[in-house]
Amino acid sequence: MEFTAPAGRNLFDSSKVVGKSTQRIDGPLKTTGTAPYAYERHDVAANQAYGYIVGSAIAKGRITAMDLSEARAAPGVIAIVAAPETEPVGKGMSNNAPLFGGRDIAHYHQAIACVVAETFEQARAAAGLIRTTYARADGRFDLPEAAPQAPLAKTGGGKPDKKTLGDFDAAYAAAPVKFDGRYTTPDETHAMMEPHATIASWEGDKLTLWTSNQMIQWGKESMGKILGIDPENVRLDSPYIGGGFGGKLFIRSDAVLAALAAKAAKRPVKITLQRPLVANNTTHRHATIQRVRIGAQNDGRITAIAHENWSGNLNGEDGENGTLQTPKLYAGANRLTANYIATLDLPEGNAMRAPGEAVGHLALEAAMDELAEKLGMDPIELRIRNEPEMVPGSPDKKFSERNLVRCLREGAERFGWSRRSAKPGTVREGDWLIGMGVAAGYRGGPTQESGARVSLAKDGGLKVETDMTDIGTGSYTIIAQTAAESLGVPLEKVSVVLGDSRFPASSGSGGQWGAASSTAGVYAACVELRRKIGEKLGFAGDDAVFENGRIRAGGKDMALTEAGAISAEGSISFGDFKSGYDVGTYAAHFCEIAVDAYTGETRIRRMLAVCDAGRILNPLSARSQVIGAMVMAAGAALMEELAVDTRFGFFVNHDLAGYEVPVHADIPHQEVVFLDTLDDIVSPLKAKGVGELGICGPGAAVANAIYNATGIRVRDYPLTLDKYLDRLPEPV
Ligand code: MOS
Repeated sequence: MEFTAPAGRNLFDSSKVVGKSTQRIDGPLKTTGTAPYAYERHDVAANQAYGYIVGSAIAKGRITAMDLSEARAAPGVIAIVAAPETEPVGKGMSNNAPLFGGRDIAHYHQAIACVVAETFEQARAAAGLIRTTYARADGRFDLPEAAPQAPLAKTGGGKPDKKTLGDFDAAYAAAPVKFDGRYTTPDETHAMMEPHATIASWEGDKLTLWTSNQMIQWGKESMGKILGIDPENVRLDSPYIGGGFGGKLFIRSDAVLAALAAKAAKRPVKITLQRPLVANNTTHRHATIQRVRIGAQNDGRITAIAHENWSGNLNGEDGENGTLQTPKLYAGANRLTANYIATLDLPEGNAMRAPGEAVGHLALEAAMDELAEKLGMDPIELRIRNEPEMVPGSPDKKFSERNLVRCLREGAERFGWSRRSAKPGTVREGDWLIGMGVAAGYRGGPTQESGARVSLAKDGGLKVETDMTDIGTGSYTIIAQTAAESLGVPLEKVSVVLGDSRFPASSGSGGQWGAASSTAGVYAACVELRRKIGEKLGFAGDDAVFENGRIRAGGKDMALTEAGAISAEGSISFGDFKSGYDVGTYAAHFCEIAVDAYTGETRIRRMLAVCDAGRILNPLSARSQVIGAMVMAAGAALMEELAVDTRFGFFVNHDLAGYEVPVHADIPHQEVVFLDTLDDIVSPLKAKGVGELGICGPGAAVANAIYNATGIRVRDYPLTLDKYLDRLPEPV
């Protein structure tokens, strides 16, 4: 079905299942360690051999020779696939570097070989015996050095990525209060718990990949293209995924090499990327340099706002655009946003949770705090004063549903914002300087076409099948809730099977579109199943009520089981009536922090997010999404950074010992509040995603809290104590 008009009142408005906090239906499998992840699927194919990928030891240049003889003779070795001397393999749908070979090296840890052996240890040992000789070439590894010459990035339509409205320069020059700041954010790795992994098996020309991938249809198309085979001959199966965060949106070398190695070994091959290859062989979040200029009237009204962003990538393709939220958050008649992209020879940068906005807020929302101080205004009042009525720069666009001001006010109330001292560095508890910070958050609410099959069994059980993925987000549960609601059966009667490309195509998990899109697709299939059941049982029209496992209309009342086994497929697409609207999600984020006055050590004390994201399908799993994102944002603010070796061009701290992420002790208290809003424009369920909204803003709230605690502003993330130790107040 096509969703073409604002959703009117419908069954979800009086729902009994959707919108209720519901424990994950896959929870028992997860908590007992029995949900099978890709590398653990020992039973899907017999006689699995182990593959081990070798990454290039140089970042740029050429392989001049590879000697495989010792490796081939090593114990247990079955086959070795080495970088082809001719064309590289694996320009897929989105990656901008080859996933395997040829002899030219585009980045460090580019896959150059895969050893297949009887055991993992044998494969790893033999991999160490491959002798590779390189001719190293100079590369560009330093963003600050490359940024000044970087050209404007291209938009999706191929135009230079620069937008202007009014006359920024003149308005900025004339503004009585001005702020101009330069912020930097580092490269980051997704650090998902489950590394990329694939088991590949061929049957004739048909390939099956048991893998860990967010986007099943993209993966199928990509593998077809990479291997030069019909995508219909490729099956992906990815029922459980130990985190992706955008790092598993696309096919990576584990899948490509498992397929090639399985062909060479003539038996199924399983590969997982060792952790260093996750950092240097797959994608990462690109570092940025951002300049924000804001001019305001003395009353806080913004008259001029400019946000410029620089990042770098292989081949100068697809950077990290930190300006994305700026046209959406605040009013202002004169505007400039520009996005520049330098060519770097580091591993490929690509999407990581809220690509663009996650780091854009770290700059813009710190800049708003800095401007508020210049104005002598409360930072919440400054934001409220600049709340736009229409989408800035798009006079023909309305916000479908926007309650940012409510988020800010309600958050201030709940967090005890009135207890914050406006003067920084003035609240002290013993050795600890205490501060509070706030930030606004915006992230889009996109939807994608999505489908499902729903089958009623003779015993009244309802099964949903779709290639939708659950990357730890709760897809299983919200899909079950949607089906239960739509067919009027208890949740316990619903089973959900996900992640198999043989099922109807779904939206997949990305860009926080999964929840809204996949449930709408399941609803579409359920509408079709209701129609079929009604028809079979002799109910005319489509006004029958489905409740308690029964169907009733016009005095007739029957059990659904009387329809026997019956199945329906459906899919939802989204009409272009939405082009008149900006569909977004909003939040207000708060943080209280303590900073040790002598050592500069930071301790987050409390975090709060108040979110406006339409109907919340499952408040329990949505909360988990938001607190997870808040943790990730705290990591970005305080500790996460891939350290770039600018001489040799690689990420040095490429493991979980050297790449620091927050642990429980770093985040003692988090609260999440959802406004009870409905978005009629987005989907029949009036719901939007929250998985990326949660990382848009909290990091800036942390930075602003540090400033409020200490009076020290650091604009280079992460805010590690070495960057301000020398500016701490004199001992008292
Ligand atoms: Mo998201 S970065 O589209 O998984």
